[in-house]
Amino acid sequence: MQPLPGFRDFFPAPVPLRDSWSADLRQHIFDAWRRTARSYGFREYDGPPLEPLELYTLKSGDEIVQQLFNFEDKGGRQVALRPEMTPTLARMIAVAERHYRKPIKWFAIPQLFRYEKQQKGRLREHFQFNADIFGESDPAADAELVALLIDSLRALGLTSDDFVVRLSSRHAWQAFFEAHCSESSRAYEFYQIIDKLERDRPEVTEEKLKTLGVSFDKVRAFVDAGEPNDELRVVLEHLAARGLSDFARVDYGVIRGLAYYTGIVFEAFDKKGEFRAIAGGGRYDQLVKLVSGGKVDLPGLGFGMGDVVLAELLKSRALVPSFTAAIDVFVLIEDESLRTHSLALVQRLRDSGRRVDFPLTASKSDKQFKRALELGAARTVRLERSPEGSVLARTKDLASREETVGTTEAVV
Ligand code: HAM
Repeated sequence: MQPLPGFRDFFPAPVPLRDSWSADLRQHIFDAWRRTARSYGFREYDGPPLEPLELYTLKSGDEIVQQLFNFEDKGGRQVALRPEMTPTLARMIAVAERHYRKPIKWFAIPQLFRYEKQQKGRLREHFQFNADIFGESDPAADAELVALLIDSLRALGLTSDDFVVRLSSRHAWQAFFEAHCSESSRAYEFYQIIDKLERDRPEVTEEKLKTLGVSFDKVRAFVDAGEPNDELRVVLEHLAARGLSDFARVDYGVIRGLAYYTGIVFEAFDKKGEFRAIAGGGRYDQLVKLVSGGKVDLPGLGFGMGDVVLAELLKSRALVPSFTAAIDVFVLIEDESLRTHSLALVQRLRDSGRRVDFPLTASKSDKQFKRALELGAARTVRLERSPEGSVLARTKDLASREETVGTTEAVV
């Protein structure tokens, strides 16, 4: 039986098939995300994978809502598997923010579910590194987030030759829209056209813009000029001060599909343009207010970075390290009368923090030794009886082949 379309099995090394997903690579990515987020002072949180359907129908963009995995539970509730983390986080912040000093800097690595057509870089589940800041409206916070995004990719060995963060601003687009269209209530409709700018054929975009009375040429000229507005200028300055200028540039072709963004928005892409977005995010200053029914008003901003595109990018740039399941010690049991003693030794070695394995049942000594080699053991230890009847431990260093004999006490 196969997993459902768009769902993955993760195997430990050696991964059995060319297209199999590696549990070790996933851990390698998670470790880099966690390490970098912590180095920026972010704290880890989590939430439920199943949520009331309403959380998304009210707060996300149409695209995500069409892709929901939703159903009625046995209690008659309309529920959905989380397609993104941001609405859950906004709810958590709305109820608990007063217990935390501002700015709040939190991260999570949730598994998310979207019922979309399976294609390269897009599956029906993925893991997404989320980092968000609450309670700071200065663009210094946007710069901090963009720097974290850059550094979490650098932590995996990617450089400014591999990826770029395209920075944009809904404020800049809003100002453009207000200058060129009188129907201010249709701004979100306009943003969605801009969001599809690179995917739709020019004639289609032109037609859509016409319904809003906006000229395609003016849109194109605005994107081409790429003149940073005040908030983007601050972000660029802060990135320059950190020596990260090479990793980001203004690109108004980005606007983001989700409904809740209000200010600076950004997306990270591979430089060759082979893959879909590696990450995306932005500022959403009204979301907490919306989720709390107006009770809590706190600016927020954040980004999400998926594991699917990232794993593909790391593979294509030969940045996947070789993963070995190496253990520290393999305890050989050649004399079954010493199994009880051997088990006690295994336990003591494990308690001392070593990675230890041993033969679960009686087996030939050459088979045991082969197993020790397969597991990449640094050492073997074998208990044996001295002529006087005391139990001794023979330790072998498998790299140098050096052997020592001593008491089990000395081995531990
Ligand atoms: P998003 O752009 O929908 O943003 O997703 C962020 C990233 O998650 C994408 O750039 C992509 O790498 C990955 N991703 C999304 N959908 C899939 C999929 N079906 N298969 C594989 N990877 C996928 C959000 O979700 C926002 N909530 C991010 C955010 C956090 N904004 C503020 N805070």
